[in-house]
Amino acid sequence: MKISFAEPDQPCSGAVIVGVWEEAMLTPAARRLDEATGGAIMRALSAAPRFNGKKDELLPIIGPANLLVSRVVLAGLGKPNLADARLFQHLGGNLVAHLNSAGEKEATIAIDVGDGAPLDQAGAAAHLAFGARLRAYRFDKYKTKQKPEQKASLDRLTMATAAPDAAERAYQPLDKTASAVFFTRDLVSEPSNVIYPETLAAQAATLADLGATVEILDENKLRKLGMNALLGVAQGSARPPRVVAIEWHGAATSGDPNCRSPLAFIGKGVTFDTGGISIKPAAGMADMKWDMAGSAVVIGLMQLLAARKAKIDAVGLVGLVENMPSGTAQRPGDIVTSMSGQTIEVLNTDAEGRLVLADVLWYCQDRYKPRLMIDLATLTGAVVVALGHHRAGLFSNNDELADRLIEAGKAVGEEVWRLPLADSYDREIDSDAADVKNIGSGRAGGSILGAQFLQRFVNDVPWAHLDIAGMAWSSKDTATVPKGATAFGVRLLDQFVARYYERE
Ligand code: BES
Ligand code: MN
Ligand code: ZN
Repeated sequence: MKISFAEPDQPCSGAVIVGVWEEAMLTPAARRLDEATGGAIMRALSAAPRFNGKKDELLPIIGPANLLVSRVVLAGLGKPNLADARLFQHLGGNLVAHLNSAGEKEATIAIDVGDGAPLDQAGAAAHLAFGARLRAYRFDKYKTKQKPEQKASLDRLTMATAAPDAAERAYQPLDKTASAVFFTRDLVSEPSNVIYPETLAAQAATLADLGATVEILDENKLRKLGMNALLGVAQGSARPPRVVAIEWHGAATSGDPNCRSPLAFIGKGVTFDTGGISIKPAAGMADMKWDMAGSAVVIGLMQLLAARKAKIDAVGLVGLVENMPSGTAQRPGDIVTSMSGQTIEVLNTDAEGRLVLADVLWYCQDRYKPRLMIDLATLTGAVVVALGHHRAGLFSNNDELADRLIEAGKAVGEEVWRLPLADSYDREIDSDAADVKNIGSGRAGGSILGAQFLQRFVNDVPWAHLDIAGMAWSSKDTATVPKGATAFGVRLLDQFVARYYERE
């Protein structure tokens, strides 16, 4: 789908979309169209008394008189003072879905906002385009027999705006964001026979083209470093593990070594999680191809920071393994010595993400001395029970960091909800045989115990853990995320970096 920005003039084909404020108040573009059609808009409004102009309402008018366009769609905009970036993104996304299901090939969106609105004309057009692009994403490379009517019909979208150049400029960074989101969605959507530790590492290595430094640690190196917790998970698989470090240096160089201490992002990259010897049931196991979503978000985020030349230093670290049962697999009850020196009793081989992250978190602190660390992981089914598919679980040892993540999430519509860490939970993972065990004794507080386990591998560094198990994949379409891989976290962390660290 090609997106462009142009001065408004009368479109002579395709669909035209104009806005209507709540209480059926026409925007100027809608009023002009009403005149050009001899009152077709007002007639449609009186024939559709349920259409009020509230947000998310759409009213199609097919084949309007006196116009060559195929249809006019009236789009509800809600209250003028509430028409913010999110509203326009949602509308752009909803329009793409609406126009595709109508089989429309071409559309012009002519939405004008009034003075004093939260966004100016250019901003509104840019965010409409951003939402449209995000919703138009498809992962259909393996469908070889799609009939024309199964493919997206909409291939040209024009944003008609009084300020096309300013809109184009406002759209540029959003376009980069969408590309990074798509990179992550693609990696998460690929099946596990295509994306496994070596091939995912190779995808991360492409970030070198953008000026990032990429280092791939192979099995020998991991053994030398003492990452036995990670290696224990990997040992059942024929696919060797990898750890990838992606460094982005964008801070203005300064003599102060503190300025060089990076923000660190760490991702769980289990390219397939069978559960290992503690094997998962067959039903739904295919979902575990996306158990590497945390790592794909870190890779997409680092791609975005490099692509937009973010003025900070950051490092992204991903732990890539496949969790398989086999003759060489780790057994329940095995005890491994992690890179930190702490011994771990592996009572359940399906609680593998925390074993991988334990070593990567430790390595991160040891090697990069980060100013803060944020890990993302599809860590527990329990977080889905707690928060459903609406918020990711947030755990942190630092209130300021937690608050910043909550605010950044609200700004982009990728919300997180803080859950507790406390000594009383921590005692539940004391092991009889080793320093720590990788599960508690029952199902209670499963997500918290996972976070407590990770915290045992965190020193004094400000740290946050995002449990994205309920957010990485969506079984239904939403306004800006078609069903499938969501890339939840890319926009959140990009916003977090831009808002709190690039401007300081
Ligand atoms: N990858 C899973 C968690 C998961 C479940 C992600 C559902 C997405 C959807 C993780 O490795 C796992 O198996 N966790 C166990 C932990 C338990 C054994 C303590 C779980 O949640 O059941
Ligand atoms: Mn598991
Ligand atoms: Zn897992």
